[in-house]
Amino acid sequence: MNQTYSDIIRPHGGTLVDRVLRGEMREAIRDRAQRMARVQLDSMALSDLELIATGALSPLTGFMNRADYQRCVDEMRLTNGVLWSVPVTLEVARDRAADIRQGQEIALCEGRRVLAVMEVVDEYPLDRAVKEHEASEVYRTTEDSHPGVARLYQRGEVGLGGDIWLVDWPNPMKTEFPELRHTPAQTRRMFARRGWRSIVGFQTRNPIHRAHEYLQKTALEVVDGLFIHPLVGDTKEGDIPADVRIASYQTILRDYYPADRVLLGVFPAAMRYAGPREALFHAIARKNYGCTHFIVGRDHAGVGEYYGTYDAQDIFDQFPQEDIGIVPFKFEYAFFCKKCGGVVSAKTCPHDQEDWIYLSGTQVREMLDRGEMLPEEFTRPEVAKVLLMGMKNHR
Ligand code: ADX
Repeated sequence: MNQTYSDIIRPHGGTLVDRVLRGEMREAIRDRAQRMARVQLDSMALSDLELIATGALSPLTGFMNRADYQRCVDEMRLTNGVLWSVPVTLEVARDRAADIRQGQEIALCEGRRVLAVMEVVDEYPLDRAVKEHEASEVYRTTEDSHPGVARLYQRGEVGLGGDIWLVDWPNPMKTEFPELRHTPAQTRRMFARRGWRSIVGFQTRNPIHRAHEYLQKTALEVVDGLFIHPLVGDTKEGDIPADVRIASYQTILRDYYPADRVLLGVFPAAMRYAGPREALFHAIARKNYGCTHFIVGRDHAGVGEYYGTYDAQDIFDQFPQEDIGIVPFKFEYAFFCKKCGGVVSAKTCPHDQEDWIYLSGTQVREMLDRGEMLPEEFTRPEVAKVLLMGMKNHR
């Protein structure tokens, strides 16, 4: 019997959302949209739009209305009870919102291009006080030195809620990876075609260092397939640009991974750096892509000192597993031990810290900026070379 995508794992909320218009309907709505009031999307809203339209954020069918926003912030649920840990909102400036009425259809734009239409069901305040509440609940800090909080404060003061229909694809400003931009419906079909019944998803905003490789391959020992799914939306200053990372992923996959057990795709989301809440969000989105398991290591989606090393793992224990659906694979901090001669963790290595090699993201970036090779124990030399070359081209 043919396996279809629906056999593998149910999308979050039960149905894989598809808000991409096609054919005559698309033509008709695109024409009508030319006469609608326009709202410009920032890069995060562009990312969210693509994710909603393709079903990566199922069951969301649009940007959140006030009730869903509030329940998400306060209880990590949507009003229908489905688990949802980070707000997905469309913010506009107050003077722009003044011209938009509830019930009106608007065109969501990237520059002069209309990408989607939205019927505005709700307009609600997202002023500083509301945002500070969101910041403290979702990001666990109200400080604007946190990059996610800083962006939250910079966005508009009014939220527009409503369902969207996509008529055209966003044109990623910095990088574009059409051959890797698989939608959830596509990855589900790809997994099924390969005969994979259990798939572990891996989120990353970094090159694949040896610790990542260790987590991925350890996980792959107990499932059928590995889905490497780097995030390519907005990241903060200091993170390695997506095009350099993609080149490094292609290199390590070619040289060190079994091609028939691994799929590489890109995740168009923006980083929020919301630590534990974002780990849940990352896991649920990967469930929509068809993954049955998801890797959560140390300080997942964290930044600075805002979250405890394993907070992003603990949050999964706050909810019944059936509400999450995808199984977290929780990993200890992994590093290379000179005495063991391989990647290990404090759980598996008996040696002292002086035998351990680990570099922070900042140290890696500084070495690459100075044109220095990364140690072989930390990064595969083939990867280090691609990173060095890529960062040189970015200077
Ligand atoms: S993230 O912001 O996308 O989470 P990163 O690319 O650093 O950042 O990490 C990807 C995944 O690997 C996350 O689940 C993270 O917790 C995990 N991870 C990264 N480095 C290590 C490490 N040395 N030991 C254990 N887990 C790690």
